[in-house]
Amino acid sequence: MNISYKSPGALEETRFEKIHSVIFDDSRNASLVIAQEISSLIRNKQEKNKNCVLGLATGSSPISVYQELVRMHKEEGLSFKNVVTFNLDEYYPMSKEDINSYHYFMNIHLFDHIDIKKENIHIPDGTVKKEDINAYCDEYEKRILNEGGLDFQLLGIGRTGHIGFNEPGSNYGSLTRLVHLDYLTRNDARKSFFGIENVPTTAITMGIRTIRKSKRIVLMAWGNNKSLVVQKAIEGRIDSNLPASFLQNHKNATFVLDQSASENLTRIKSPWRTGFSKWNDELKAKAVAWLCEKTGKSILNLTESDYNENNLSELLLYKSYYDINLDFYKRLHRAITGWPGGKPDSDDKVRPERSMPIKKRVLIFSPHPDDDVISMGGTFDRLVSQGHEVHVAYQTSGNIAVSNSDVLKFLEVINSTFPDCKCENDELIELLKNNTDIINHLRVREIAGTIREKESLAATRFIGIPDNQVHFLKLPFYETGTVKKNPASEKDVNIISEIITKIKPHQIYAAGDLADPHGTHKVCLDILLDSLQKLKVKSFMKNCWVWLYRGAWHEWPIHEIDMAVPMSPNQVLRKRKAIFYHQTQKDNVMFQGDDNREFWVRAEDRNRAIAKKFRDIGMSDYSAIETFKRHHF
Ligand code: F6R
Repeated sequence: MNISYKSPGALEETRFEKIHSVIFDDSRNASLVIAQEISSLIRNKQEKNKNCVLGLATGSSPISVYQELVRMHKEEGLSFKNVVTFNLDEYYPMSKEDINSYHYFMNIHLFDHIDIKKENIHIPDGTVKKEDINAYCDEYEKRILNEGGLDFQLLGIGRTGHIGFNEPGSNYGSLTRLVHLDYLTRNDARKSFFGIENVPTTAITMGIRTIRKSKRIVLMAWGNNKSLVVQKAIEGRIDSNLPASFLQNHKNATFVLDQSASENLTRIKSPWRTGFSKWNDELKAKAVAWLCEKTGKSILNLTESDYNENNLSELLLYKSYYDINLDFYKRLHRAITGWPGGKPDSDDKVRPERSMPIKKRVLIFSPHPDDDVISMGGTFDRLVSQGHEVHVAYQTSGNIAVSNSDVLKFLEVINSTFPDCKCENDELIELLKNNTDIINHLRVREIAGTIREKESLAATRFIGIPDNQVHFLKLPFYETGTVKKNPASEKDVNIISEIITKIKPHQIYAAGDLADPHGTHKVCLDILLDSLQKLKVKSFMKNCWVWLYRGAWHEWPIHEIDMAVPMSPNQVLRKRKAIFYHQTQKDNVMFQGDDNREFWVRAEDRNRAIAKKFRDIGMSDYSAIETFKRHHF
């Protein structure tokens, strides 16, 4: 594939930016380009008979870069014999064999698959005695110097703005040392450690100075949960409370971003402030929504001076402010519908969905067994009550999110009720009582998956669809028994294609979450998009429209909404009840995130907040709204 770092655009466009930054459509292509830069550097050094000294990072961000380097080694003969590596950091204390150690990470993602010399690999040692740490860290610095310094440093960025494990407050001149980890950093790592209480509180990390001395620095950021910190690092002031901002002082640093991570940069969020003028309908809508928020006014109350005073006068060259207001108002107004499957016998030119066929076949894809009701429970309920044939396909088993104590409870109930099953259960019950890592046990995972299936059936029965319209796909990429998943494969795509081909839906609903690029929702979406590409030539697909909903975490920006389905207070309660049937996901759920609200509370807060936004912007006053964006394939 022929892709490269794009030019950052006209100088004007990037005038708020203090670090060279490039934006790619997705993290996969961005990773390929970073891998190309690294491989060119290695080959260049080889030609000169020199070693190439790489500073390497761990975490979710560099995984695709390493995958591509491994591919280049296997398929294109890229050799790593002249490569010397220094990793940024390691938890402390931490054994090298621990699956959460960065030693383990580097081996499985890179070192085990390439021809690097073992003696050329350096990763901070999480087993050194505390009293020896200072001397050990000095030695680490010396080794980097002895190799001639870092030629290239690969970085990720934490939501605290950390680079390596240099947390807020780190010193500009800091070197390799033992540090204390920020709460947010530990919370972000809690999934792999099965709880924040198991995440080490300290780590050994290269310092800011160690990193700054690298001749070239590339920092990757994927997903919109990084977008705020990325904007501050690139556009804000240099601030030790945001260590990545120190890179503003480096002469050869590039931030490589995917679209979601870049969404808070001025050139993306409000490009009209940078002198940009390539207006299209979507951008105009974005500008009006932004102006409403900025001025606190509803659409039809925006005045000519509001446009003039907020860098939007250019819009007025082609249309009056009143017509611009009206265009956006009508667009939003038309998106609102109580008929998500189309309104029978109506003129559908100004409605989000077609009226025909009156009874549609609908296929809702739900990444985990509960995203359907959490994200679009009200719309699901309406589709069923309006007589459509609604199917739900749960893409993954969601088995790792069931706690041991829940599995134990079900086994104990079976044991007390059916003594004949006792033998195998007794053994499992003992294991469950004693072993916290039991989720790796295949049988326990199967039981956990079955529990989630039955909870889902309780919810779909409540909404009113027959069991044979509920499909449990158990996509193989998910079935690892750990938080780390396998990459998606052809097998996953085929399973999705099969169910679409079998049902031949007029409507598909799917989770359009891009928040976490390696998260299950994004992988499930990518698999669906691959399958749609494969199937789009089939005649039944000509009649199929795809609607994307957002999961528990984010909402569509208002100007991107193509369909908004209002809910009555009674429907809000029905949705709540449907979510309640997913009992293992209530109260202390395994993967809560840094939001302590239960899923039903988050869903209600979000549906209420978007209804308020509609009201503030001048639309009707609803108690709750679910929103969708149409995907054209
Ligand atoms: C990893 C490291 C960290 C990560 C950062 C982002 O070696 O030093 O700074 O790069 O926490 O992590 P991910 O990529 O998982 O979002």
